[in-house]
Amino acid sequence: MTGSGRRLFTAIPDSGRWYMTNLHTSEMLDWLNERDPLKLTGLFRAARACAVEHVGSKVYFRGLIESGNVCEKNCHYCGIRRGNRNFPRYSMTESEILACAREAFEMNYGSVVLQAGERCGPGYSAFIEKIIRGIKTLSGGKIGITLSLGEQSLETYEAWFRAGAHRYLLRIETSNPTLYKNLHPSDHSFEKRLECLRALKSTGYQTGTGVMIGLPGQTCEDLVNDILFFEREDMDMIGMGPYIPHEDAPLPSDGRDIGENFRLGLVMIALARLRLKNVNITAATALQALDPEGREKGVMAGANIIMPNLTPVKYREAYQLYEGKPCLDEDAGESSGGRLDRRIRFAGAQIGYGDWGDSPRFRSRNNGTAGPGKA
Ligand code: 5AD
Ligand code: SF4
Repeated sequence: MTGSGRRLFTAIPDSGRWYMTNLHTSEMLDWLNERDPLKLTGLFRAARACAVEHVGSKVYFRGLIESGNVCEKNCHYCGIRRGNRNFPRYSMTESEILACAREAFEMNYGSVVLQAGERCGPGYSAFIEKIIRGIKTLSGGKIGITLSLGEQSLETYEAWFRAGAHRYLLRIETSNPTLYKNLHPSDHSFEKRLECLRALKSTGYQTGTGVMIGLPGQTCEDLVNDILFFEREDMDMIGMGPYIPHEDAPLPSDGRDIGENFRLGLVMIALARLRLKNVNITAATALQALDPEGREKGVMAGANIIMPNLTPVKYREAYQLYEGKPCLDEDAGESSGGRLDRRIRFAGAQIGYGDWGDSPRFRSRNNGTAGPGKA
């Protein structure tokens, strides 16, 4: 429908206007400044229609395993930064991680996401490799594996890919190098982050990135540039969420209303969907921290991925990247199983159980193949 020279127009219901999905930079900027709820509802509906057309009507669950909060980095905004000594550090054992993956498999989730603070070195690399192979074995190769384990060497990325991981999430946090510098200590590097993203792609991973939305010092122009960055780097997956301050993180506030970051978070999902079309987009948990129905609203604004938290409850308190992270004391099965399923169905989408739910953009770039071990 979007073939050569033709542009796709989608109606924004409720707004009485026709909306062009080949969004221009200036239109994206206008939408980020839009506050009229009726017009925003129209934008979200257009984005949801765009998702249905380009990635299908289903929402895919990725069971999130936060396997450890030990981190070698010291990002100014993050609650589990190396310099924060106000909470206990943990590293889940192999059998604990595999038990979570088994739970995801038994609930018929298509994939798991292994996320942790950033750790490097041959011992850690070998440990994760063993875990990846273990998850593949316990599920007979059926469970897809996404990693979110930060900046690593090319050799490590390759070893984890060979072991069977096929997607990797590494947020750029902001595409503005000056802002990136202000958010991180001087030994963190924007260029290194970019190099890692490119290394992941060349290794063969479905590669995802994203940003925090509403950061101190971040402008709406920066956010538009973030979407152009995702486009330029031809990313397969996008995971963005509102910035939420943490009391033990030193990033100074610029006085903005954090509640506003929720609106901006939904608008960014909708704009990314309308601009990039066939990518996977996550409805981030940080949305749920600001609104109990945040993730459902994310789906209704164009997201198609949700990451229910499967981390054992005893560890959740110690994985607080930001204040008010939800589901700290809920039983994992309760918070991520039937109830979430009902809520997503109620929001009008079906769940893609037992399916990897790969990014169609990745598939179209790679002639239908989706990495090693495709079930
Ligand atoms: N608010 C929102 N998101 C945060 N992250 C870290 N700290 C915060 C915060 N205070 C996000 C970063 C990181 C991901 C794992 O968590 O984007 O990449
Ligand atoms: Fe570590 Fe990631 Fe937090 Fe930075 S954002 S301190 S790398 S867990």
